[in-house]
Amino acid sequence: MWGGRFAASPSAIMEEINASIGFDFRLAFQDIQGSKAHAAMLAHTGIITREDAHAIGDGLNEIAREIEAGKFKFSRALEDIHMNIEARLAELIGPPAGRLHTARSRNDQAALDLRLWMRDMIATLDRQLHALQSALAVKALAHASTIMPGFTHLQPAQPVTFGHHLLAYVEMFWRDRLRFQDASKRLNESPLGAAALAGTSFPIDRAMTAKALGFDRPTANSLDSVADRDFVLETLSAAAICAIHLSRLAEEIVLWAGPQFAFLALSDKFSTGSSIMPQKRNPDAAELIRAKAGRIIGALNALLIVMKGLPLAYAKDLQEDKEGTFDALDSLALCLSAMTGMAGELAPNAPHMKSAARLGFATATDLADWLVGAQKIPFREAHHITGRLVVVAEAQKKGLEKLTLAEMQKVEPRITGEVFSVLGVENSVRSRTSYGGTAPKNVRAQARRWLARLKRERARVQEALEAPPKA
Ligand code: ARG
Repeated sequence: MWGGRFAASPSAIMEEINASIGFDFRLAFQDIQGSKAHAAMLAHTGIITREDAHAIGDGLNEIAREIEAGKFKFSRALEDIHMNIEARLAELIGPPAGRLHTARSRNDQAALDLRLWMRDMIATLDRQLHALQSALAVKALAHASTIMPGFTHLQPAQPVTFGHHLLAYVEMFWRDRLRFQDASKRLNESPLGAAALAGTSFPIDRAMTAKALGFDRPTANSLDSVADRDFVLETLSAAAICAIHLSRLAEEIVLWAGPQFAFLALSDKFSTGSSIMPQKRNPDAAELIRAKAGRIIGALNALLIVMKGLPLAYAKDLQEDKEGTFDALDSLALCLSAMTGMAGELAPNAPHMKSAARLGFATATDLADWLVGAQKIPFREAHHITGRLVVVAEAQKKGLEKLTLAEMQKVEPRITGEVFSVLGVENSVRSRTSYGGTAPKNVRAQARRWLARLKRERARVQEALEAPPKA
């Protein structure tokens, strides 16, 4: 393809370090799609003949069929997907194939293919996140009043409900979806026609190819078009944040499934046994989700480092954008599927969770709040009184709600029998009715709101799929 200036072929090692076909073969269909749009535009603008454009289009369709049937021979000597396809096109249709590369370069082609791929991948991830949110919201509704300890510093803090805890993740995954959608909107500009770096002297119509490929517009600066990988960095950033959310949930599943917490039973579908310890049941899927966050964050870091200090415009360094990205987004897709499966199987041990919620004087804040509300004691003083009551209860190895009124009044005479209505974990969660709080009735309403919203989205997607194609 570029042999004109060269007398000898590259050394084997050069071929090995230079070739990207081992991974960019995944861009084959995007490459074909881009070439078809380019050829049609070249004919429309009179840069090539209609006959040549037809021959090119037919040849590209044939190549797509060969690839689908697994009959296409990828060659490392042809370096990358762009040259593999162009070389095969020449075999199939002869001289017109040589006209396809008019007014474009592999630099804009590579940038184009990856944008197209990324747009589809983000749509897939969005659907997966939707499914995960749905699975969590269903569980949240079922467990809107299942009481568990809420933690700060991993110490018992205040009782919450399991449904409330799950909905925290529904919110996180929603923000992840917004980040991906935002990245997808911004990447939706076509670099095709930027050519090598400076644009072209041919009278091309970049708006036409942009439109044909579903982009909002062509990119505005040819140098930026071939040098920019912001769209990869943004998507990987969104992926890294999403992976962190998955990893935090995975870690909680690992902790909660162990006998020390015993909040959850692990389903057979997502755990394994040990080859030596017959009693074992290991949360492997959750552990791997936790670990894969490392790879995903690693891919983001790697590309940030590749990009840093890279002068404009294209440099071969940019070829390193792909492997890590494919690996990271494939890993994320797999983690999302595994987590959705696990979410559907979450089986909390409600009685155990509730007794755990009673540990650690988790209703101390409720007692302090009662002193403030019922006796108009300033919160700081109420905090101090409650601290002293905790000391008394602790010395007797019992919960605050098990202290007698006389024992309480010895510490604070203003306490009345009414206080017992706020002690106890049920009373505690029921009272947390502030917006966003853990009261079962709030959680039920939030879970229903999410389920309705997710269902509306599903209906919209369904409608779009069933709509007749636009003429
Ligand atoms: N395989 C290359 C990549 O992924 C395509 C662009 C090659 N351009 C070049 N001037 N060598 O970046």
